[in-house]
Amino acid sequence: MGEERARTKYVLDEADMPRRWYNIVPDLPSPPPPPLHPGTGQPVGPEDLAPLFPVALIEQEVSGASYIDIPEEVLDVYRLWRPSPLFRAHRLERELGTPARIFYKYEGVSPVGSHKPNTAVPQAYYNAAEGVSRLTTETGAGQWGSALAFACAAFGLACEVWQVRASYDQKPYRKLMMETYGATVHPSPSELTASGRAILAESPGSPGSLGIAISEAVEMAAADPGARYALGSVLNHVLLHQTVIGEEALKQLAMAGETPDVLVGCTGGGSNFAGLAFPFLREKLAGRMSPVIRAVEPAACPSLTRGAYAYDFGDTAGLTPLLKMHTLGHGFVPDPIHAGGLRYHGMSPLLSHIYELGLIEAVAKPQSECFAAGVRFARAEGIIPAPEPTHALAAAIEEALRCKRTGEEKVILTALCGHAHLDLPAYGSYLAGAVTDLEPSAEQLSAALSDLPAPPVRG
Ligand SMILES: Cc1ncc(COP(=O)(O)O)c(C=O)c1O
Repeated sequence: MGEERARTKYVLDEADMPRRWYNIVPDLPSPPPPPLHPGTGQPVGPEDLAPLFPVALIEQEVSGASYIDIPEEVLDVYRLWRPSPLFRAHRLERELGTPARIFYKYEGVSPVGSHKPNTAVPQAYYNAAEGVSRLTTETGAGQWGSALAFACAAFGLACEVWQVRASYDQKPYRKLMMETYGATVHPSPSELTASGRAILAESPGSPGSLGIAISEAVEMAAADPGARYALGSVLNHVLLHQTVIGEEALKQLAMAGETPDVLVGCTGGGSNFAGLAFPFLREKLAGRMSPVIRAVEPAACPSLTRGAYAYDFGDTAGLTPLLKMHTLGHGFVPDPIHAGGLRYHGMSPLLSHIYELGLIEAVAKPQSECFAAGVRFARAEGIIPAPEPTHALAAAIEEALRCKRTGEEKVILTALCGHAHLDLPAYGSYLAGAVTDLEPSAEQLSAALSDLPAPPVRG
C-alpha cells in the first residue's frame, strides 16, 4: 500500500483548531419549539433560568447567531488535547473484509477520556467569569462529572457531583478521578436533597438515573445564590460547544479527500452525536454533501425510536422547564445497562426537532451487540471504546458489513467519543457472558408515558 493510501491518522495543527462554535438553529427550516414554564405554559425567559445558569450560557441557549466566538481562555484549555485525531480504521476494514472506508473521530484523547470537556470547560469558564463559586451537576457514566471536575479545577470553582448509584457502584475510579480534581461526589439518589429522599422512601434500592441525579443537582444549585448548575448534554449550548468535533472532522476528511456517505453516533442526551453531525448537516443543507446521518441509542432506553415527542420535564422530580423532546416519560428509570451515559429518559429538544424534520435517522441496539462490536474494534484498532460509543460502532460495523454484501465503497464516519479505561468491569461482565439484553416492554413504556405532564396551555 502506498504511503498516502496507508495513512491512518489525520492530525490538524493547533492553529487549525476551530475558533468558533457552530449554531445550527438559523440554518434549519423551522426553529425548535421553546422550553415552557410548567406553571404558566409560557416560554421560559432569561429570568427563569438565571438561578441555574450564567447569563452568557442563557444567551447561547437562545442565540440566533450562526457562529459564536470561543473565548481565548477556553481555547487555552482546549489546546491541552485539541485538535483531536481522525483515524482511518484500516485494520477494522480488513478484519471485516469490507470495501467501505471507515473513519472515526477520537475524543478519548481529552484529559478525562471523552468529549465531555468540550463543553465542561466553557461552562466552567463562563460561570467563573460571572462570579459563581460552586457548580453542581449529575453524572451517569462518570465521564461528565470527571469533565466538570477537571474544568472547575482549571477555573478555580468548587464542584459537587451527584453520580447515578449504579455507576457509583460500578465505577469507583471515576469517583477518585473527580476527587483528585477537587470535586465532592455523592451517590444519587441521596439523602441530601428532597428529591433524593422522596425516591429512597419509595424505592430504597433504587439504581438511580440521570433524571433523578439532575433533580438533586438542580435542587442544590437553586438553594445557593453562589452556586449554579451545569448540564452535560441535552441543552442547545451544550450541543453548540461540541461542534468543535464536527468542524475538525470536516477539515480532516477533506485532508483524506473524502466526504461521508453515512455518519453514525451514539445518543444519550445527544451532545457527541450533534457535535459531530451538525457541521456535516450544515453542509448537507447547503447541498455540498448528502450523508445519511444516523443516531444510535440503547434498546434499553429508546427515546427516539420508541418515545413520544411531547413536552416533558428534563428531570425526574419535575424541577426543570418543560422541554419538547423525544421522551420515555420523566418517571422512566432505564434498566442499569453498562452504557450509563445513555440512560436518560429524554433527548435533546434540538436533536428531537431535527429528527422530526426528517433530517436524521435513528436506530436502537441491544448492549450485547454493542459489546461485541467494542471487542471487535479493540482487537483490530487497539482502542477499547467506552460502552456508549460501542453503540455507534455496532451501527458502523453493520453498515460496513452491508457494504461487503453489496460491494458499495461507502465512506462511514463515526464518533468514538470516549475510551473505556475506567469502564473495564463492563467488559469483564461481557467477557464472562454476564451481559443481558434489556428492553422495556410496551406496557412499561405506556405506563411511563401516561405520566407525562398535561400539555401546557399557552395563552
Ligand atoms: C463516553 C460517553 N459517550 C456518550 C455519552 C452520552 O451523552 P451524549 O449523548 O450527550 O454525548 C456519555 C454521557 O455520559 C459518555 O460519557
